[in-house]
Amino acid sequence: MNTALVILAAGMGTRMQSDLPKVLHEIAGAPMLAHAIASGLRLEPSRVTVVAGHGAEAVGQAARDRFPFAEIVLQEEQNGTAHAVAQAREGLSDFEGNVLVLYGDTPFIRPETLDAMQRARADHDVVVLGFEAADPGRYGRLVMDGARLDRIVEFKDASDEERRITLCNSGVICADRKVLFDLVAAVDNDNAAGEYYLTDIVGLARAQGLSAGAVTCDEAETMGINSRAQLAEAEAAFQARARAEALDNGVTLMAPETVFLAHDTVIGRDSVVEPNVVFGPEVTVESGSRIRAFSHLEGCHVSRGGVIGPYARLRPGAELAEDVRIGNFVEIKASRVDRGSKINHLSYIGDAEIGEDTNIGAGTVTCNYDGVSKHVTRIGARAFIGSDTMLVAPVSIGDDAMTGSGSVITRDVEPGALALGRAQQVNKPGLARKLFEMLKSRAKTPGKGS
Ligand code: UD1
Ligand code: CA
Repeated sequence: MNTALVILAAGMGTRMQSDLPKVLHEIAGAPMLAHAIASGLRLEPSRVTVVAGHGAEAVGQAARDRFPFAEIVLQEEQNGTAHAVAQAREGLSDFEGNVLVLYGDTPFIRPETLDAMQRARADHDVVVLGFEAADPGRYGRLVMDGARLDRIVEFKDASDEERRITLCNSGVICADRKVLFDLVAAVDNDNAAGEYYLTDIVGLARAQGLSAGAVTCDEAETMGINSRAQLAEAEAAFQARARAEALDNGVTLMAPETVFLAHDTVIGRDSVVEPNVVFGPEVTVESGSRIRAFSHLEGCHVSRGGVIGPYARLRPGAELAEDVRIGNFVEIKASRVDRGSKINHLSYIGDAEIGEDTNIGAGTVTCNYDGVSKHVTRIGARAFIGSDTMLVAPVSIGDDAMTGSGSVITRDVEPGALALGRAQQVNKPGLARKLFEMLKSRAKTPGKGS
C-alpha cells in the first residue's frame, strides 16, 4: 500500500518553557520528532511531509537527518490541526494512496499499531487511533456508534455526558489522500477555541456518507509531551522498555535502572553492563564484552571481548578491536585500537592509531591539539609506551618500540627502538639533608614544616 506520512510539528510548545522547538527536545539522545518519524518509516512511506512553524529551519533539519527526502512545509500561524494538515495538500497533490497524520510530540506509537490502522482502511474511509485513558483529562473524546466512529468532540466543546467518555483521540488519523484533503478543506473554526480541528473530519465524513472507524492502542503509545515533566516521564518510559529489551536479548544489566540507553544502542548477547553506565547515541558493543561501572560511551564500537572501565569515557570515533582493555579514567576519541591492546589507567588517546598487543602506560597523553589544529599519533604493534609519556602529535612510534616513562616524544621512533625524552637524572649526595636544615632554620616556627 502506498503511504505518505504527514507529521504535525508546528506548535510552539509553550509549556516546555524553552527556546528550542518542542519536537526537538530529546528522548534517549534523539529529538522526539525523530522517534515519531522512525515509527512511521517502518511502513515504508514513499513521502514524508513535516508541517513546521516555530523553529522551522531546525525542525526541518532534524527531519531530514532522519529521512533525507522529507518535505518541509511552513505553517506560519498555528490555526489548528486541520489547518496544519491543509499545508501539506499542495505538496501531495500528485500522490495516490493513504495519508497517515502523526504528531511530532507523540513519539512512541508502535509501527504495529500504524499497520493495524492501514489494514482498518479496508473497512473505513477514515481511521482514527484511540485509546482508553486512565485519566481522560483534556483529550478529545471518540463518540462511537456501535462499532463505527460517529464523531470526535474536543474537551472544550464537550457536554458533561461526552466528557464521561474514556475512549480518547490520540490524534493519529489515516485516510485516502483525496478524501482527507477534501474533508480538511471543509473544516471550519466555529468552536470554543476558534481553531480548525482536524478531529472535525470524522463528523464531516459521516455526513457525506463515508464511514469512520477507530483502532485502539495502549495509552503508553499515545503519550504526548507538552512539559518538561512529561519529557522526563517519556524518557523513563523509553528507558524501561529499552532495558527490558536488552535483558530479553541476552545482555546482563546488573542494575538495570541505573543504565541509560540511547535510541540506537546495540549490545551483543552475553555482554555484561555493570551499574551506572550511560550510552549516548551510536554505540555498538559486540558480544561477550564487559562495560564496567560508571563508564560513559558515545559514537563508539567495542568489539567482542572488550573490557571497558570502570570510569572510562569512549567518545565518538573510538573504534576498539577484539579483546581491547580500557581502564579507569581513560578517555578515547577518534582513535583505532587494535586487537588485544591495553590502555588501563589515566590516559587521553585522541586522533590515534594503535596496533595490536600494545601496552599504553599509565598517564600517557596523545597531545593531539596545538591550539589550532588536531594531529595524528601512530603507534605500532607490540609497542610499550612508558607511564606518563607525552606523545606530541604528529608523531609515530614503530612496531616493538618502547618509550621511557616521563618522556616527551616529539620525533618519530623507529621500530624496535627505545626512545627517552626526559632530562638525565643527577644525584647530589647529602644535599637533601643540608637543604632541610637550612629551610628549618629559616622558618619562623621551627619544627612546624607544612
Ligand atoms: C489534539 C486533538 C485531540 C487529541 C490530542 C491528543 C485536535 C483538534 N485535537 O489536541 O482530540 O486528544 O491532540 O494529543 O486535533 N499543531 C500544528 N499546527 C497547529 C496546531 C497543532 O502543527 O496549528 C501540532 C502541534 O505542534 C502538535 C499537534 O499538532 O504536535 C497537536 O496539537 P495540540 O495543540 O497539542 O493539540 P491538542 O489540543 O493536544
Ligand atoms: Ca497536545
